[in-house]
Amino acid sequence: MTRPAIRPGNTGAGTPNTGTKLEHRRPPLKSASCNDLGEAHIDRRHTLAGWVGRRRDHGGIIFVDLRDRSGVVQVVFNPELAPDAYRTAEQLRSEWVIEVQGDVARRPPGSENPALPTGTIEVIAREVRVLNSSLTPPFYITDEVEADESLRLKYRYLDLRRPEMQRNLILRHQVVKYIRDFLDSRGFLEIETPILIKSTPEGARDYLVPSRLQKGSFYALPQSPQQLKQLLMVAGVEKYFQIARCFRDEDLRADRQPEFTQLDLEMSFVDQEDVLALTEELYTGMIESLTPEKKLIKPFPRLPYAEAMARYGSDKPDLRFGLEMTDVTDLAGETEFRVFRSTIEQGGIVKGLVAPGQAHYTGSDLRRLEETAREFGAGGMSHLRLQGDGSLENLSEENILLSPGLRMPAEWSRRLAARMGAQPGDLILLMAGPANRVNLWLSAMRNYLGERLGLIDDQLLSFAFLTGFPLFDWDETNGRWDSSHHPFTAPADGKEPLLDGAELGNIESKAYDLVCNGSELASGSIRIHRRELQEKIFAILGYSKEQVEERFGHILEAFEYGAPPHGGIAPGIDRLVTILAGADSIRDVIAFPKTQSGADLLFGAPAPVDAAQLRDLSLRLVE
Ligand code: AMO
Repeated sequence: MTRPAIRPGNTGAGTPNTGTKLEHRRPPLKSASCNDLGEAHIDRRHTLAGWVGRRRDHGGIIFVDLRDRSGVVQVVFNPELAPDAYRTAEQLRSEWVIEVQGDVARRPPGSENPALPTGTIEVIAREVRVLNSSLTPPFYITDEVEADESLRLKYRYLDLRRPEMQRNLILRHQVVKYIRDFLDSRGFLEIETPILIKSTPEGARDYLVPSRLQKGSFYALPQSPQQLKQLLMVAGVEKYFQIARCFRDEDLRADRQPEFTQLDLEMSFVDQEDVLALTEELYTGMIESLTPEKKLIKPFPRLPYAEAMARYGSDKPDLRFGLEMTDVTDLAGETEFRVFRSTIEQGGIVKGLVAPGQAHYTGSDLRRLEETAREFGAGGMSHLRLQGDGSLENLSEENILLSPGLRMPAEWSRRLAARMGAQPGDLILLMAGPANRVNLWLSAMRNYLGERLGLIDDQLLSFAFLTGFPLFDWDETNGRWDSSHHPFTAPADGKEPLLDGAELGNIESKAYDLVCNGSELASGSIRIHRRELQEKIFAILGYSKEQVEERFGHILEAFEYGAPPHGGIAPGIDRLVTILAGADSIRDVIAFPKTQSGADLLFGAPAPVDAAQLRDLSLRLVE
């Protein structure tokens, strides 16, 4: 076969084609990225560089999947066309780093790979240079990785080579860039705040850093830049933001890291709706431009906290599906069922949800479901199976199957079903207990059923703003009031006088959250900007005057120098990227994350330090 004359290659994305003849100069390490190549490049010569993925030897011809950040392209080594390159290719192993010069060609008919963006072409190698060899990696660099996560974290630099992880890093970069451009266009200033600072409480333990120069004294790493951004408002900045690293020593969960990143933002002369409108515009614009395949419901609904708790039992409901809850305490009180009666006598509630079309559950299905409820912490779960079809009014006694303890006439079941919006064919599940517990168990059951009944659209991002949170929560363990959000949050308009009363649990605040698909993505509030009110809140939280002065004297004093009214919000970047990337874990969108026990497996941190370092800091370890 005679090949057309090879012309010098286009230099690839972004770099202008200089038209220089390749033969007359040493080729740059790369003239294109793997994924840039397509049919438009056929018959052009290109220099690529990257890692050897798979290498296959097919009857005297060697195929190498060459991978770089952009993607993968197939390189063909033919001993007749390029004997030297072929001999080198025989030595190549997974993850070796090579530079290949070759000609882009259409793949022979039938050998195209539709799964690959470059699947209609291949690169016929002319020359190859080994830039570095590699040990055999401890796991294959592929998206179908089966390696244990701890191995992936120990060899994170290999794990990050996987295409999926590269995509996550790119998406994260794009998210942060979008945020910066958007807020810049709205007149926000990006301002860095210190990492070595004093405690800025957000409800977790502080990470402490001992001072060498002031022996016995410690810095605390910021749990968030909360007080710093408020001080910037006092400083007249008016619109601030920061891609801020936050540090919290708390029990880790699937969506928590001990250090994580927030978009921290604050504005002066605004009220709640201004912050929410800006946040919504940022999120919708970002998602429509970066992940257009996702579906959004606009505008984001505003859901009062009390309503969210009543309907979904959670302040971060997954709104991609219904399965709403109904309080049926009064109807449950009509039964003789021991569990219901004693719960109600002790001030508890009975609440339930309807699993549509699931009346066909067998006894053993129901036992398994009850077992799941117990795993969520529930003591048990009652049920009603409304079998048959037709209308609820005509549903006969024999078509209503109640769980053992419930011996009630059909008329009661029909009233209960009507209240809950259930139809013949549906399964009703009921739980009894203290209100906060029932909400916890039943919302776990709701999420479980949403998943199991296939009610979740994976492409849907169901956002909502939760508003009207209480200002304080009662901390049962320590017997005191806690801020539901943080101590700098203002009470709702007109609620300030209630701070002198006894019903502190019923005071509404100006805090708000942005939730999406069952996850809290952002949190913020309108702040207190007057000293007296802030002092009153600290007093309710149980701080003595001395403690307040020592911990918060600086910000209280600042409030006395013309602090403007202000408020803000802090979207968690890691959680946002996790959702946009469709990643399984928050760790998949952080380059070097920590394990659930706060360890960095690559560096082996945390680790003991030299005795000399401790001496410098005047620290001694106690056994
Ligand atoms: P909050 O503590 O609610 O508010 O945090 C705001 C958002 O940060 C994210 N987030 C986390 N992400 C990963 N790992 C963690 N450990 C973690 N903790 C929080 C969440 C959360 O919604 N200063 C206030 C904000 C304000 O009032 O403006 C604050 O930090 O997405």
